[in-house]
Amino acid sequence: MEVINTVAALKARVAAARQQGKTVGLVPTMGALHVGHLSLVSRACQECDFVVVSVFVNPTQFNNPDDLRTYPRTLDADVDLLTNNTKADVVFAPSVAEVYPTPDTRVFDLGPVAQVMEGAHRPGHFNGVCQIVSKLFAYVSPDKAYFGEKDFQQIAVIRQMVSQCDFKLEIVDCPIVREADGLAVSSRNTLLTPEHRAAAPHIHEVLAASVAKVATMSPDELTRWTIDEVNKNTLLAVEYYEIVDALTLQPIKAWTDTTSAVGCITVQAGAVRLIDNIRLTK
Ligand code: PAJ
Repeated sequence: MEVINTVAALKARVAAARQQGKTVGLVPTMGALHVGHLSLVSRACQECDFVVVSVFVNPTQFNNPDDLRTYPRTLDADVDLLTNNTKADVVFAPSVAEVYPTPDTRVFDLGPVAQVMEGAHRPGHFNGVCQIVSKLFAYVSPDKAYFGEKDFQQIAVIRQMVSQCDFKLEIVDCPIVREADGLAVSSRNTLLTPEHRAAAPHIHEVLAASVAKVATMSPDELTRWTIDEVNKNTLLAVEYYEIVDALTLQPIKAWTDTTSAVGCITVQAGAVRLIDNIRLTK
C-alpha cells in the first residue's frame, strides 16, 4: 500500500489504475481508524479493483476548536492497520495546505436535509463536510464512495450534494459496527474517561429497547421516553433525539408518515459527544 501526500501524485496514481481498466473506490475518513472504518474499506476492496482511503482531519467541518485540537491523529497506526487488514491500494494523507491552498469559501445550500439535527446543532459542519468530500470526489473521480450509517444524516447530505453537483458515482452506505457491549465504534471513544466509557453502552441499550415500543407509543411519546431513559444514567446527557424519515431526515408525527423511521441521537458523555441511531420501522 502506498501513502500519498499530494493531490498531483494521487491523481496520477488513480489515472494509472484507470488506464489499466480498474474500477475505483474511495473511503473518506478522518483517521484514528478502527473496525468501523475497516468494514467500509473491506467492502470497497470487494467491490472495486483499486481503493483509495483518505485520512484527513478536515478543519472546515469542526465548529468546536477544542474538538479539532483533541481529535486523535494516528497516521502511522492507521497505515499499519490498513496494510495488515485490508487490500487498500492507496492512503491519501494530505496536509491542510495541500487541500486548502486558499480558503474554501464555497457555501453549499443543501436544503432541509442539512438543516435539522447535526445541521442545527453544529453550524457549518455539513458545509465543511461537503467542501472536503467534493474535493476528494474531484481528485479521485471514484465509481463508488463508501460511508457509514453511523453518521446517518451525513449520508443523506452527501447524496444531496452529489445530486446538486452532478457527480457521477454511487454512494454506498454501510451498516454501523458496534463494540461487543453495543456502543457504536468511534474514533472519539478513545477520548472517554473509563467511567463514561462504562456508561456509554446504555445509549444503544435504550435505542434497541425502544424498537418494541413503536407498537404502543406515538413518535412524540417514544422520543420523550428515549430521552428520559438515556438521561437516567447521570453520566450521559442527551443533546437531541429525533425520530425522522430515513430519506428526508425530517421529523415525523405519526408512524404512517414514513415507510422507514430512524431514531437519531446525540449524547454528551463528559467531554465527548457521541452519536448513534436505530431503524425503528423498515
Ligand atoms: P470519520 O468520522 O473518520 O468516519 C469515516 C467514515 O467511517 C464515515 O462514513 C463514518 O460514518 C464511518 N464510520 C465511523 N464509525 C463507524 C462505525 N462504527 N460503523 C460503520 N461506519 C463507521 O465521517 C467522517 O470521518 C468525515 O465527516 C468525512 C466523511 C471523512 C469527511 O471529512
